[in-house]
Amino acid sequence: MNKLFVGKVFLAPMAEVTDLAFRILCRKYGADVAVSEMVSANALSRDSQNSLKIIQTCEEDKPLGIQIFGQNTECIEKAVKIVEDKCDFIDFNLGCPAPKIIDQGAGSALLKRPNRIKEILETMVSNSKVPVTVKIRSGINKGDNVAVKIAKIAEEAGVEAIAVHARSQQQKYSGEADWNIIKEVKENVGIAVIGNGDIEDAIDAKLMREKTGCDSVMIGRASMGNPHIFKQVKELLDNENLIDPVSSHEKLEMFKEYYKLCTQYDLDSVPRAKMHLMWFTKGLKGSTKMRNAISRIKTFEEVEEWVQKIV
Ligand SMILES: Cc1cc2nc3c(=O)[nH]c(=O)nc-3n(C[C@H](O)[C@H](O)[C@H](O)COP(=O)(O)O)c2cc1C
Repeated sequence: MNKLFVGKVFLAPMAEVTDLAFRILCRKYGADVAVSEMVSANALSRDSQNSLKIIQTCEEDKPLGIQIFGQNTECIEKAVKIVEDKCDFIDFNLGCPAPKIIDQGAGSALLKRPNRIKEILETMVSNSKVPVTVKIRSGINKGDNVAVKIAKIAEEAGVEAIAVHARSQQQKYSGEADWNIIKEVKENVGIAVIGNGDIEDAIDAKLMREKTGCDSVMIGRASMGNPHIFKQVKELLDNENLIDPVSSHEKLEMFKEYYKLCTQYDLDSVPRAKMHLMWFTKGLKGSTKMRNAISRIKTFEEVEEWVQKIV
């Protein structure tokens, strides 16, 4: 089993969230491995500058997985060649439920097409210098579990790890993730299994590992506005030590760090900075009023004014 995927705490790929600045921040607070936002293989193969910006990285941003999505094997092959020198592994998206992705036959829509998955993964593995991984959901509808079938196809194709988000496409992000599905996958393949879905705190991470036997855990939403969750999870998993959450004030300080990293790496998306600011100020006294004010921010300079106000 590839050690890169065993005993690790992963930052999940999240579109419009896990940019370079946020990844560096999460690493500082304990994330072992991070995965980029998903990037279109079609767009990469056309040299789209926007897509290249999405996969912007640096020396500090390691180990890194770059996640691609698509369904055209030729474009995927080209995308592999573009990203392989920038990352430690390439992840293929078989989980996205967003209509604009599934309408192109990509993301979780591919779960209906095991033969195409096999062809894509074999192409990726034979063309990539770095390991290939996949991230899947349980199936299309709640109850139609194809996770084990897809996991076996992935393993046979030479994929080195599989992240399982234990929800169906139809469930999107609602309902509960069914961790039994992660357990079933773990029992049926020899490659590393990364459990994902509904880890809200360190205790959840420990429970997921115990209940499913997964090799690593992956955290998404609970890290938004709270990168310190990685430290809590690692302390509990590695040292049986339950550490306190950070204060609201410390979270604001973390937003300052995020903002500084954005300026350092020319990541000047106002909607994104606003979203992060919303998350980092969640739960603060007077936060409703504050959120209204944040929602009116229009320029990056105004974000900077906020940072100055934070003491
Ligand atoms: C805003 C947002 C964006 C996401 N973008 C991606 C993505 O680009 N690729 C992907 O595989 N999953 C994506 N996901 C799914 C997460 O990686 C993860 O599987 C899901 O949120 C469940 O984990 P959690 O309960 O820890 O959040 C996204 C989730 C959210 C909330």
